[in-house]
Amino acid sequence: MLGFKSSATQDSSHCLLKEVGLAQLNKQHLRLASYAVEFSQIIEELSSREPSTADWRRIDALFSKIMRFVATHFAEEEALMVEHGYPGYEAHKKLHDKFTGDMIKMQGEINNRNIRFKMKMNSLLWDWLYKHINEVDYQYRDFFQAKGLS
Ligand SMILES: [Fe+2]
Ligand SMILES: [Fe+2]
Repeated sequence: MLGFKSSATQDSSHCLLKEVGLAQLNKQHLRLASYAVEFSQIIEELSSREPSTADWRRIDALFSKIMRFVATHFAEEEALMVEHGYPGYEAHKKLHDKFTGDMIKMQGEINNRNIRFKMKMNSLLWDWLYKHINEVDYQYRDFFQAKGLS
């Protein structure tokens, strides 16, 4: 388990990410978790006030950083699956594509300065961390380890 603590929101106060067996991917998962914490912190700050222009700029910058990093992470994970003939590749890729689609929709709301994105974005990121990494990514652990990857 990769322990990860956040005081940003009650629901995400203690996120334990499972190790997926590959050091590089574990590292990327932790970085995604740290971005989710950063996002939660901004959202918490905005719980009692409307976002200013500077807040929206921070949100834009963080969101773009997350989008770029998620794209890199997915590409790397998928390339490993293809290279080693992972049998769950197609289904896994569909989930990555769905998440990317949800993020693109979210970016539309942010671009329109729609404040309703706040809670949706928070749950999207944390659901992803808990469910995708711990349940879906975790499934490839034994497969890659059997191929000698670590
Ligand atoms: Fe992953
Ligand atoms: Fe994945």
